[in-house]
Amino acid sequence: MKGSKILLVAVIVVLLAAMVGCAAPAAAPASDSTAQQPAADTQASDTQAQKTYKDLVVGYAQLGAESEWRTANTASIKETADELGVTLKFSDAQQKQENQIKAIRSFIAQGVDVIGVPPVVETGWETVFREAQDAGIPIILVDRRADVPEDLYVSYLGSDFVEEGRKAGNEMNKLLPDGGKIVELVGTVGSAPANDRYSGFRETVNSNIEILDSQSGDFTRAKGKEVMEAFLKKYGDEIQGLYAHNDDMALGAIQAIEEYGLKPGEDIKIVSIDAVRGAFQAMIDGTLNVTVECNPLLGPQFYDLALKVANGEEVPKWLPSAESVYYPDNAEEVLPTRQY
Ligand code: AHR
Repeated sequence: MKGSKILLVAVIVVLLAAMVGCAAPAAAPASDSTAQQPAADTQASDTQAQKTYKDLVVGYAQLGAESEWRTANTASIKETADELGVTLKFSDAQQKQENQIKAIRSFIAQGVDVIGVPPVVETGWETVFREAQDAGIPIILVDRRADVPEDLYVSYLGSDFVEEGRKAGNEMNKLLPDGGKIVELVGTVGSAPANDRYSGFRETVNSNIEILDSQSGDFTRAKGKEVMEAFLKKYGDEIQGLYAHNDDMALGAIQAIEEYGLKPGEDIKIVSIDAVRGAFQAMIDGTLNVTVECNPLLGPQFYDLALKVANGEEVPKWLPSAESVYYPDNAEEVLPTRQY
């Protein structure tokens, strides 16, 4: 009796093992092409449930058109949407936070899949971001950070502005090895790049370099020129260096310095940020000493993130852009390769 029970158990075990053995090839090895078929079928039905670029509707609340950098950023966002077949709803806030907030609310009302926004200033976003969250629409911060709790946005795609400021400080140290007096053209007041480039620069600039004055030029060429004129009127040829938070302000300041009768790049050493084509031309002309790159071509990475987010995939909280530093010695060679 005992022997037959053991035999029965043994038979059951063998039968179960045989069943498992039969099931295994279906689940398995990629080397078996017939076995891959069911997996591919499963994938196909999964893919049907997933969005593709052609299904994706994205709202982009651009902050304005204040600089060459911004123009390149807008072009990258628009052109990449066209290339991928993404439906893009685009708005330009003309550097006004209230317009960006209005645009975000309108995207929420239209039920877009994802909203991208480069916040013109860091603060004041919590209410509208919460409205998006309540509507189930994820926010991706593009280019600029916002000072909000981390759960209110899915990801930040953009530069390390503090690091750009640090790089600029190091470059100013090389240009003024014995120290000197400089002025600073700050970006838009309250914006992440202005705040971070301001503090990053101070982390690395030598203590024998005195910052005589620091004023906002709002990231525009016209304002950069106007503020530099005021600096020159006040400090004249005491000024040995200029740190501009972007190339557009530096290019405006270069004009002001020339009109004042000094030589930009020689009498006044200039370090700026962005690495737009105009900056390369100025380095070729000898009027700008260094530009620290800030990459505006964020379109491809943005839509890649947006699609992942729309499909519920995990994405990194920060996707930094790779950036470099450029000097006059190879500006002529590099200029034709620049896309912005
Ligand atoms: O947020 C990026 C900054 O905004 C760029 O450095 C500047 O040129 C632009 O206006």
